[in-house]
Amino acid sequence: MSTNIERWKNDFKIKKSYTERIKLIAKYIKENTTVLDVGCGQKELKDFLPAKCKYTGIDIIKTFNADREVIKCDLNEKQPKFNNVFDYITCSGIVEYIEDVEKFIKYLSTIGKNVIISYACKENYNINLQEKYLWKNRFTRSEFIKLLEKYGFKVNHEEVVYGKQKIFICSK
Ligand SMILES: C[S@@+](CC[C@H](N)C(=O)[O-])C[C@H]1O[C@@H](n2cnc3c(N)ncnc32)[C@H](O)[C@@H]1O
Repeated sequence: MSTNIERWKNDFKIKKSYTERIKLIAKYIKENTTVLDVGCGQKELKDFLPAKCKYTGIDIIKTFNADREVIKCDLNEKQPKFNNVFDYITCSGIVEYIEDVEKFIKYLSTIGKNVIISYACKENYNINLQEKYLWKNRFTRSEFIKLLEKYGFKVNHEEVVYGKQKIFICSK
């Protein structure tokens, strides 16, 4: 099952955003740190970061071709390499679209010290919604936490957004 690029291009056109979730995530980022925003969309997170953060994004769609801050990449095909380890990795609304979540989290553990990651846990969403949104995986909260822990992330705190979606605030 490949990534549905046309769907994401359309989201870009209508400037669909998830501001509430992004604001909540930004709250946990300290100033003067490096941030990798995975599935960054239109880089909305950048507007809410504290002072002196260095921002990098990854997305399958690139807003502007000349934008050096965003690496264009299909994460179901490739995992970009970095020379540095980021202070924070943020994943807002991306994990649901990843085919191999274990490989993805393992990858995050090699490039980040802290991860702030949203997830629509299986017990909170019915199968019809999963089909509607074309989600590619379906873990329970405890299965998802176990995966994070397997790759060295400790869940320090959890937030809830949009009524039932989780945000896990994790460190190594
Ligand atoms: C639900 S949106 C979230 C955007 C933003 N993080 C936010 O919270 O507003 C999911 C984002 O992930 C990107 N995306 C989806 N599948 C991807 C893939 N396989 N590789 C890289 N980016 C992908 C989409 O283009 C889109 O920008």
